[in-house]
Amino acid sequence: MTSTYPIALVVGSNRRESLNRKLAKAITRLDAPTLRFQDIRIDDLPMYNGDLEAARPAEVNRFTDEVRACSGVLIVMPEHNRSLPAVLKNAIDWGSKPADRNVWRDKPVAITGTSPGAIGTAVGQQHLRQIMGILGATVMGGEAYIGNKPQLVDEQGSFADDTTRAFVQAYLDRFATLVGKLA
Ligand SMILES: Cc1cc2nc3c(=O)[nH]c(=O)nc-3n(C[C@H](O)[C@H](O)[C@H](O)COP(=O)(O)O)c2cc1C
Repeated sequence: MTSTYPIALVVGSNRRESLNRKLAKAITRLDAPTLRFQDIRIDDLPMYNGDLEAARPAEVNRFTDEVRACSGVLIVMPEHNRSLPAVLKNAIDWGSKPADRNVWRDKPVAITGTSPGAIGTAVGQQHLRQIMGILGATVMGGEAYIGNKPQLVDEQGSFADDTTRAFVQAYLDRFATLVGKLA
């Protein structure tokens, strides 16, 4: 029997009409029989504050428990001022502490994202790669910068054009292989 692996799907935007959330949904509709995506909420996490460490808020414990229980993490994020959005950095910071319970260590992580800008989150993703590498995650190599266009995702929530679908599918196939190898 083929194993299936829970994958934490983290969207780095707290906007209701987030383009990245739409991209994330389209990715979950691709063909990935060994991956079981689980939406992980980050917009309810308080701003990281060491004073809260003595009694971590319930939302933080829920977040870290959910990530810890997953076999891998797929991050789909916009670029904010050529870096990662603060809401995502905040979630990463919570997950990184205390250091002996860092939820990112040895986790296979794949990164993608979309923006209407010309280079489709490329610079922001580089920052994120650096951070996740420092935290000990196994960040999948390769690049998936998705330029946003009005018809990226159709009304059914799937990729509208074959070229983008095939590109992201290939990226996802590589992630499924990595997760399977490291599980
Ligand atoms: C504070 C801020 C900074 C931004 N900086 C960038 C940027 O550096 N590069 C870029 O391509 N788009 C930038 N944008 C535009 C975002 O790509 C755009 O708002 C996108 O829709 C955000 O993704 P979302 O729809 O998933 O929230 C920025 C937007 C905001 C609000």
